[in-house]
Parts: sequence; structure tokens; C-alpha cells
Amino acid sequence: MANPIAPTVVAIFGATGDLTQRKLIPALFNLFLDQELPRQFTIVGVGRRGDLENFRESMRQALGKYSRRGEPNEEKWAEFSGRIRYIAEDFQSVELYEKLKAEVDASEAEFGQPASRVYYLSVPPDIFGRVAEGLGNAGLSAAKDRDRIVIEKPFGRDLESAEVLNKKLIEHFDEQQIYRIDHYLGKETVQNILALRFGNALYEPIWNRRYVDNVQITVAEEVGVEKRGGYYETSGALRDMVQNHLLQLMCLVAMEPLVSFDADEVRNKKVDVLKAVRPMEAKNRHLFSVRGQYGPGYSGGMSVPAYRKEVGVDPHSGTETYVALKLYVDNWRWHNVPFYLRTGKRMARKVSQVVINFCPVPHQMFPASSTDDFEPNRMIINIQPEEGISVQFQAKEPGAGMRLRTVSMDFNYERAFQSESREAYETLLQEVIEGNTTLFMRADQEHLAWELLMPLLSAFENSPPANFPNYVAGTWGPETSDLLLAKDGHRWYNPPVHPQ
Ligand code: BG6
Repeated sequence: MANPIAPTVVAIFGATGDLTQRKLIPALFNLFLDQELPRQFTIVGVGRRGDLENFRESMRQALGKYSRRGEPNEEKWAEFSGRIRYIAEDFQSVELYEKLKAEVDASEAEFGQPASRVYYLSVPPDIFGRVAEGLGNAGLSAAKDRDRIVIEKPFGRDLESAEVLNKKLIEHFDEQQIYRIDHYLGKETVQNILALRFGNALYEPIWNRRYVDNVQITVAEEVGVEKRGGYYETSGALRDMVQNHLLQLMCLVAMEPLVSFDADEVRNKKVDVLKAVRPMEAKNRHLFSVRGQYGPGYSGGMSVPAYRKEVGVDPHSGTETYVALKLYVDNWRWHNVPFYLRTGKRMARKVSQVVINFCPVPHQMFPASSTDDFEPNRMIINIQPEEGISVQFQAKEPGAGMRLRTVSMDFNYERAFQSESREAYETLLQEVIEGNTTLFMRADQEHLAWELLMPLLSAFENSPPANFPNYVAGTWGPETSDLLLAKDGHRWYNPPVHPQ
């Protein structure tokens, strides 16, 4: 059945860029195929160069390369691409916004009714403000319930620049019109953390300091910085991954139960977590943080260069490509439970997961001889590339006597639902089109996340690392990150490098 949501115009600023090809157009096309786009829609590519024909053709090729569904069906593509328009203008020019206004007016005339207007800014952060202003001045932000602006990360590079950007946006758009993207929030497995925690009675009673010993959040990548050395030099792992993706995962794991699934309720509860995180004092940073940078090594059986040898990277760079943190959430539920967070490029394998390590049994009645690998219960929430949840527990080995072994109960998305998960950008674009802000970062979340990291960011910048590179590409990061946990009697849970 065709989708009854309001007609929509989606304008993509930065239409010739990588994100548009890899994510946005494949996501919009998949939504179209699944009949999740409004029946009446227009997509307007906005770029500095090119024309409509080139744009359409490069988007068609992009689908073949990047869409989870591969090459498009010609008939469906013809129908979809007939809805694409293109504007080539400088983002600074007033004409651009006039032309966009004309496209919007033409679409609305054709639809026979006002449309929702989504302005997706896939452009360098330094022009976010300029585009918001251009839209505002052209009257394209005035419909508070229909004009929406989507901002890709990075949202600023520190607390101050994030505030400046926010002020600029707020001059033209109200908070409920602003959709700050953290693409992790669009992942099915990330949203499932809420379903797991609050759709089941089983886990909530043990989801606290009495039963949880420590929580580990890992977002490891096998790739290096690829072609993004220039950007990454201004960012580093703390800004690129922790400020957004890892802290958001932590909020979902640590938040209090929700009263309703309302956008502000979800975001308020996350804000409460960020407010409760114990501030990090720069002078004690060695007690709760480790940074690293990869040297040469092997990845996927191939020899790979050091970070300092990557294109666009300073040969003496002090940028961290790995970071591990120990955080505490100072509230009743989590008092003194360490949350260990780590992320890095060129690690042993790609894996994003949350591991809840439960406390050991209070009294061990089995003799030591009954087990070689007695491990406390553990829940592993696999976000990617495997998607699912495993709960590890002790079971009796078949045979004489009482020997215990760690076994696991597994839920796997693909097997359970017999379908492939959709891409995060499909979900996020659909939510914007439907006007739902739940999965997007509110200004106070951005603010608190930056505020929390500022002491560490400044300390990193003010004290260049003496020991970089300090981990071999293709490993689990610097040795000191093992020590960070060993001091507390813990160790990282490293999944098998070659999953079954
Ligand atoms: C982005 C970072 O936000 O997330 C990249 O800028 C990183 O550096 C990417 O590679 C990882 O996303 P995913 O979905 O592949 O885990």
C-alpha cells in the first residue's frame, strides 16, 4: 500500500559528495522500493558543479556499488530518478536559495498541497551556518512543522565551536526542526537495546550495580583512516567516535526506564546519564584514559602502513587513532560500576559490541577441579557486523561427574527475522521525513558530551604523546589499555578474530 505520509521535498546539500553516493541515495531508493517514501516526493541535489543528467547517472552507478540491493531494477530506477532535480550553485550565493525555493514551490504546486521540506547538509562543517542562514533568508525555515534541517557530524570540534554552530542554527530553525545525526542511533541493533531493556521483565531487575560488575563498549574498525587523513588529523578518535557513537551507546545501556517512547522522554533520560558521568580531571587522566596510534602491521593478511604514512597525515602526527576510557555513572543504579569504552582504527577486526559482565556467584560450591574456564555470566550485545545477543552461562558437560563449561544462548537477527537488517540511513531518513526526532541528538546532549570530553581533549592537545605509534596495526590496541582494566582486576572481552 502506498505510504500516506505528507508529500516531501528532500534537498541534499553536497550532492556530489561521498555520503550522498554511499548512503543517502541508496537509502532513499530502498525506502522508495519498500514503499516507505511518501507517494509524492522530490529529491533535489544541490552541488557546486555538474548538471542533472550527470547527477542522475552517477547516482545510478552509486546504487550498483553501494546499495545493499545492488544494481537497480531499470523500471523502478526510471520512476525514482524522474523525481530527481539538480541545482549547481555556490553555497554562498543567494541565487542558490532562490532556485531551491522555486523547486520547492514547483513541487508543491504539482502535489497540490504544502510539502514537508528536508534540507540535508552533507557539507563541510564550516558551511553549516551559511546554508542555514541562506535557507532562513529565503523563507525556507519558516514552516516550523514542515521545514527540517539535518546536520551531519561532526557537530563542532569542541564545546565552543558546537555552541557557535548551535547559535547560528537557532537563529533560523527551532530546536524541534533540527535533526543532528548520529548514525549509530539508526542501527537496528542499537535501537534494540531499548527493546531488550524495556520490553522484557527479565533483565531490568539485574541491570544495576548489585549484579553488574562492569560494562565494556567496543567499537573497533579494521580499516585505517582510508582517504580521510586530512579530516582525521583535525579530529582523532575521541572526537570522531567517543563524543557521539560511544557515549550514545553508553546512554542507552545506562539510562533509567522510560515512561513513554516519546522523543523528549528518550532524550531526557539520556541527558540524565550524561549529567551523571563523573567528570574527568585532566591531571589524573592516566587513571582513566589511554590513547594510541597505529604503526605498520597486517590487516586482512596484507601489510599496511603506519598512520603517520597515510595520505594527508603529518609524518609526526600526535593524533590518536585509538582511545580507551574508564567512566563512572554516579547515580544509585551504577555507583562504582566501571564503564570501559574503547574505539580504534586498524584493530584486530571490525566489531561493535556492548558486553555486560555480571558479578561472580556469591558462593562457589563447585570444586576448582570441576571447571577450567569458570566465567561469570556475560551478555554480549552484538551491534555489527554480527547482529544479535548472546548470554553466556555455565552448564554441566555431558558425562560422569560434574564438570562445568561456559556455553551460550544466542539470538541472531537474520536467523530470527529471516531478513537482512536495513541500513541506518534508511531508518534515519524515514524518521526525518515523518518528523520524529527520537533518534537524533538534541542540543543539550551535544553540549554535555562535549563538556564531558573537553578536559581530556585539551590534555591530549597540550601534551603531545612521546610514544606514538604504540600499537601494531591489526591488533587490539596498545598494551596500556589492557593495564587500564587489569588495575581493576578486569580484562577486555575480545571476540574471536575470525567469527564462525
Ligand atoms: C563515522 C566516523 O562516524 O563512523 C568514521 O567518522 C567511522 O571514522 C564510522 O569509520 C564508523 O561507522 P560504522 O557504521 O562503520 O561503524
